[in-house]
Amino acid sequence: MLAVSFDDRRFRDALGAFPTGVAIVTAVTESGERLGMTVSSFNSVSVTPPLVLFSVIRRANSFAAWTAVKRYAVNILSAQQEDLSNRFARPLGDKWTGLTVLEGETGVPVLPNALAVFECESYARYDGGDHDIFVGRVVSLRTTPHRQDLPLIFFGGRYRRLDASFQDTPPRDASIFEGW
Ligand SMILES: Cc1cc2nc3c(=O)[nH]c(=O)nc-3n(C[C@H](O)[C@H](O)[C@H](O)COP(=O)(O)O)c2cc1C
Repeated sequence: MLAVSFDDRRFRDALGAFPTGVAIVTAVTESGERLGMTVSSFNSVSVTPPLVLFSVIRRANSFAAWTAVKRYAVNILSAQQEDLSNRFARPLGDKWTGLTVLEGETGVPVLPNALAVFECESYARYDGGDHDIFVGRVVSLRTTPHRQDLPLIFFGGRYRRLDASFQDTPPRDASIFEGW
């Protein structure tokens, strides 16, 4: 195996060059305890079957609970939901106190005003080094009725917002975006 030529800090900083959205993954354990965790590692995987993924760090307090749940929801946050993102990025404590929560079609807790919610059944879990990669098969989805809502962005270790005026720029070669 080749030795790496960089330290963790440089690696993290370089990864920060790739902007992502922010999601909160939510579930309920067999004993009825709600789980919720902020993730930027969400990504699409497959259309047929409909699969998505996120990764959970193994040292997270809730890691063992995540490996046990059979269903979960991925709630994609809007630019107005920064506080919610912070709330679910903190260890321990009751992250749910005082929150309005909806029940999804599959019985998992889902967050109101998310841009999109993907309710999943657990499909696969893979070794991802100090994380595990969770792949979910989407069984139900909802999208925001507020089409003008913008997503919360994470880039360079900070939250960002999209420049709404940028959306007005028509794509120059729209054909390459078809299906993506
Ligand atoms: C913007 C952002 C993105 C994050 N993405 C992830 C992620 O993809 N995977 C992960 O394991 N933790 C991620 N975290 C950290 C978890 O949200 C945090 O460790 C949380 O406390 C875990 O919940 P727990 O303590 O209840 O297990 C992220 C935090 C922030 C602020």
